[in-house]
Amino acid sequence: MQPRSMVFSDSTRSGTGGPAGVGETTLSVARLNKTFSRATGETFKAIDDVSIDVKKGELVVLLGPSGCGKTTLLRAVAGLETPDSGSIRLGDRVLFDSVTGLVLPPEARHVGMVFQSYALWPHMTVAQNVAYPLRMRGVGRAERDRRVADILAKMRIGDLAQQHPGRISGGQQQRVALARALVCGDGIILFDEPLSNVDAKVRELLRLEILAMQRDFGFTALYVTHDQEEAMALASRIAVVGRGRIEQLGTPEDVYARPVSLGVARFIGSANELAGRIVAPGVVETAVGRLSVAPAATEAATGPEVIVLTRPEHWRFAADGEADAMTGTVVGAAFLGSVSEHVVALDAPGAEPVTLVIRGPATGLRRPGTNVRCRLSADGPLVFARDAA
Ligand SMILES: Nc1ncnc2c1ncn2[C@@H]1O[C@H](COP(=O)(O)OP(=O)(O)O)[C@@H](O)[C@H]1O
Ligand SMILES: [Mg+2]
Repeated sequence: MQPRSMVFSDSTRSGTGGPAGVGETTLSVARLNKTFSRATGETFKAIDDVSIDVKKGELVVLLGPSGCGKTTLLRAVAGLETPDSGSIRLGDRVLFDSVTGLVLPPEARHVGMVFQSYALWPHMTVAQNVAYPLRMRGVGRAERDRRVADILAKMRIGDLAQQHPGRISGGQQQRVALARALVCGDGIILFDEPLSNVDAKVRELLRLEILAMQRDFGFTALYVTHDQEEAMALASRIAVVGRGRIEQLGTPEDVYARPVSLGVARFIGSANELAGRIVAPGVVETAVGRLSVAPAATEAATGPEVIVLTRPEHWRFAADGEADAMTGTVVGAAFLGSVSEHVVALDAPGAEPVTLVIRGPATGLRRPGTNVRCRLSADGPLVFARDAA
């Protein structure tokens, strides 16, 4: 899939130049740490010196495997978890600062949350659900009714106001959850894996809906997921999180095409890995032969023993008579509609064949057992020192 490139990270929409006060929603997390103690008595760093800024109108995705600290970071921003040290600001307001000891309670933070499967109250109507955060903040009845009606109308779910969540569709529930998060109107929305419990087809639709809403309302969001495709589709920028740390922060294109480490490269998208040795600038000797890569790629490696990481789209089948091709055998083939995928076992003289995945045009599917010749484009592959693996 193609990473999205849209305008949400446009610096002209940054909150830093605007007037301070209401409407200022730039989130700034600095040097945040949070340690938990395990039942066994040992301590464990769930957030390890994390700094991250989210500009106004941006949707920043925290992407990482389960247990890497994503939820803990969101809960710290929301005020549901008190960090050990660091600071959290929203616009010109300090939400948390370990130096001054300031800890704002959750209801004073102007932070909306959208949880897994939306967590709407089943016994409350749509209107009551959306009014809930306003009630928590002590907003009076008349003002509450006005703001709830206003946000429901904007989200085109005004006719659902008196329904209960159990009686409306998944897409409508998502709108209600978003309305509840947006109703306070002046902060940031935190999403914690809202789509992880819905099936794949609905998930794709709801993802598009979130994108459309973000475009229409321009809200600022910090969005947690472990699903790299979801991250690519939604993010203005992705923060790749591992073991409580931010390993890379960049646009979807950055983290996909220019990952800072083998770990990040493996986590974002599918990766074919070939062990090898740099023998000249831009040339790596591997079990399947010499690979030509960009000279800059081998220059960046810190030692001669490397892993060449290629994406399925870096490979193609060679035309008859085309030179510099590697030979192999198709072991699996899948027609995926707009593209095809082949699993190929590349011949490795004197060693086991090396399997890799090749993605290409949907036409020309090769059957398993077919002998093929494959070519690698020189400008895609990444080279990492093997000891960094
Ligand atoms: N209240 C807590 N007490 C002890 N350990 C916790 C607590 N909350 C989270 N953890 C631990 O912190 C780590 C990060 O958890 P979490 O932020 O929920 O990860 P993620 O959302 O990325 O899956 C996990 O190892 C988890 O077990
Ligand atoms: Mg979590």
